[in-house]
Amino acid sequence: MSTTFLTTSPRQTQKLGEKTAKDILKVKNRRGARVLGLTGGLGGGKTTFLQGFARGLGIKEKVLSPTFIIMRRLKIKDLTRLSAGQGFKNFYHLDCYRIANSKELLDLDFKKIIADPKNIVAVEWADRVKKIMPGEALWINFEFIDNKRRRIVIGTLKKNAKEVHK
Ligand SMILES: Nc1ncnc2c1ncn2[C@@H]1O[C@H](COP(=O)(O)OP(=O)(O)O)[C@@H](O)[C@H]1O
Ligand SMILES: [Mg+2]
Repeated sequence: MSTTFLTTSPRQTQKLGEKTAKDILKVKNRRGARVLGLTGGLGGGKTTFLQGFARGLGIKEKVLSPTFIIMRRLKIKDLTRLSAGQGFKNFYHLDCYRIANSKELLDLDFKKIIADPKNIVAVEWADRVKKIMPGEALWINFEFIDNKRRRIVIGTLKKNAKEVHK
């Protein structure tokens, strides 16, 4: 199952990211980190989406394109107003554009990071490390249509996720 969106500006893509973060905070994750796999070519809007996503997590720092860094960690400080206190502490932003294989990520303790329920992990170019992505990852694909338009397909949160009703 998936939902398709068409955005016509970077701002709209950020807004979609922000909403996705808020949706994720509503879902109780029982095991491991909450992991997002972002796919689609250069300029598709993956980093732009994650700027809004981070904002939705209450992160003030700017999300940069980490193309020359594989992994960046941003602290999630105050979630008390945003979630039911699920104890998320870190937002990991990874970019696998320059990665040759999954082993390079494993060397960065990727397994440990995705095992920790305190983490939210977003992986750009996740199709390059598909083998080591968790089965319950939320997949999001970005398709370039023209200068201003992007088709964004967001999968459904599943498996170890359980809705929190309040
Ligand atoms: N609807 C849109 N959504 C996202 N980005 C857009 C959109 N329209 C134009 N852009 C531009 O496309 C580029 C997307 O870049 P970026 O988010 O870094 O993509 P990626 O991380 O997938 O390589 C930015 O320069 C942004 O301003
Ligand atoms: Mg990017």
